[in-house]
Amino acid sequence: CPHRAVLGIETSCDDTAAAVVDETGNILGEAIHSQTEVHLKTGGIIPPVAQQLHRENIQRIVQEALSASRVPPGELAAVATTTMPGLALSLGVGLSFSLQLVGQWKKPFIPIHHMEAHALTIRLTDRVEFPFLVLLISGGHCLLALVRSVSDFLLLGKSLDIAPGDMLDKVARRLALAKHPECAAMSGGRAIEHLAKRGNRLHFDLTPPMHRAKNCDFSFSGLQHVIDRIVTRKEREEGLEPGQVLSSAPDIAAAAQHAIACHLAKRTHRALLFCQQRGLLPPSNAALVVSGGVASNFYIRKALEIVADATQCALLCPPPRLCTDNGVMIAWNGIERLRAGVGILYDAEGVRYEPR
Ligand code: KG4
Ligand code: ZN
Repeated sequence: CPHRAVLGIETSCDDTAAAVVDETGNILGEAIHSQTEVHLKTGGIIPPVAQQLHRENIQRIVQEALSASRVPPGELAAVATTTMPGLALSLGVGLSFSLQLVGQWKKPFIPIHHMEAHALTIRLTDRVEFPFLVLLISGGHCLLALVRSVSDFLLLGKSLDIAPGDMLDKVARRLALAKHPECAAMSGGRAIEHLAKRGNRLHFDLTPPMHRAKNCDFSFSGLQHVIDRIVTRKEREEGLEPGQVLSSAPDIAAAAQHAIACHLAKRTHRALLFCQQRGLLPPSNAALVVSGGVASNFYIRKALEIVADATQCALLCPPPRLCTDNGVMIAWNGIERLRAGVGILYDAEGVRYEPR
């Protein structure tokens, strides 16, 4: 391989993922094992179960990514692995497996911050220069940050309670969408997006949260409880048998999706104006990057497009498969850190490596 290549490993939540990416952004090999189906059956992620599944799959997934890349382990420039934030038991599987590899192969090790990896993915797919604003919306996180370099993130806002993906997952569970024939094996967010397409959001009046708060923070649990009460009321009205799906589920899904989209759009608008007025972002042609699992929702993207137009920004989203958790973003963050010469690069014995 003429360019430096990094093996990236991700096990922070419920995906076991690995990829080999080179300096020019070529994805040389990738593999992923999703645990979604198992966790849907138990109604949420049970950490020891996630840990066990990571253990069962990590060897195969890393091997698949490596074989596809045709890069011999000896020619890798480094191994990069998510070390935070995430479920401690899940993170531990990726970390100990990686440390074993770097010990065996005598390679530098690059610890990766999962959210930073989501934020920088866009630099692999589009040539986005620093600084840019990023909105990260997933099942576990919700934040707005100004990205000034590979390792310089200014946090502008975060969720005060749950993340939008978590809210979508909870609403989907409350609506029993896992039992819906069209939504089998879909994440909560995808199931809501799917059903919302034929729903009428105007049947339910949901006020976007925090409309008076003069900051860029988010809140979703109030909205989720309002929807909970609506579902309870509708279940009574429709006289549902246990396990049946409400006939008004598409309308509820559409209203929930719309309320989330409005809330995300308003807070992001505030953040963009804040940065532009203070010279932290250029007054026009700044990049608004949206990533994380929820960013694969096209209705939410459309709302953010309106915000981008109003502030003369360019809205950029990685392709959906790079928005959800994956190994490519971890490997790419490793490449970014190698190129910038930042990040603590240790081998298994704790010997510090300097980037070449
Ligand atoms: O980034 P991700 O794969 O994992 C986390 O770091 O959380 O995001 C997963 C989240 C889940 O909550 C899932 O319901 C949501 O992203 N999601 C979606 C869509 N696809 C996945 N939310 C809204 N619309 C979608 N199409
Ligand atoms: Zn994620």
